[in-house]
Amino acid sequence: MKKNKFYSYIFKRKSIRNYDLTPLDDAKLKEISEYLNSLKPIYDDIKTELKIISPDYVKRRMMKEAPHYIAVFSEVKEGYLTNIGYMLQQADLFFSVNGLGCCWQGIPAPTKELVGSSSLDFVIFIAFGKPKDPRSLHRSSVSEFKRKSLGEITDIAGADELLEVARIAPSATNSQPWFFTGDKNLIHAYSVEPGFIKRFTKKYIPIDMGIAICHLQIAAEHFGKKAEIVFDKTAGANVHNGRKYIASLKIK
Ligand SMILES: Cc1cc2nc3c(=O)[nH]c(=O)nc-3n(C[C@H](O)[C@H](O)[C@H](O)COP(=O)(O)O)c2cc1C
Repeated sequence: MKKNKFYSYIFKRKSIRNYDLTPLDDAKLKEISEYLNSLKPIYDDIKTELKIISPDYVKRRMMKEAPHYIAVFSEVKEGYLTNIGYMLQQADLFFSVNGLGCCWQGIPAPTKELVGSSSLDFVIFIAFGKPKDPRSLHRSSVSEFKRKSLGEITDIAGADELLEVARIAPSATNSQPWFFTGDKNLIHAYSVEPGFIKRFTKKYIPIDMGIAICHLQIAAEHFGKKAEIVFDKTAGANVHNGRKYIASLKIK
């Protein structure tokens, strides 16, 4: 299975909710499992555990069934949710590149047995498998993304190529809770509080931010730059128009 070309699939990927329920073969599941073990974290010192499980351990709460799920567990530490967003978005793109569908699943709950199977805390599921309709797997144009405009998510000039990939990143209920400020060499990522209607998505905001940071770093690397995730003391000390500082990307 391919582990490259992620940049171009940022423009094609989409959440898949209708699956062919035939399980993937063991060889493919093994490759997926190996890839999951190689995901890059933001923080090396936060323990995580990713298990590929069957739908038997998922209380789906109205969500359609998938043949497989990744059950994501983590140690609970400062930054752990952003770390999970950053890590598992690599898996989202890996599935898309390799012709499989997936969808972040915040609504379903784990069974007691699943919760008890790890010493870490359950965080979220990602459903995956073959899409029921292979033609539905990818978007054919960026216009198919329902997203805010660049002007609504940043005040940085001269970094549109990079920020475009954050703009089209997935987020819980598509709330797109991000704002990027700074300049093209040091991009500060802030999160925006959701409005009243989307207030129940608040707990996913740090995950969404990790997803957008993952996209930004992939784009920077695509353009031959190094993008280091740093914590900028000045940006961190400032609340930016009520927004919360998450992290910065130093682009060289
Ligand atoms: C943290 C997180 C949780 C999500 N939870 C669900 C969910 O429970 N059910 C669902 O159908 N989609 C869920 N989604 C998928 C979003 O609705 C989807 O990413 C967003 O609408 C953008 O669409 P796209 O992924 O096709 O670009 C979730 C996404 C994220 C990032």
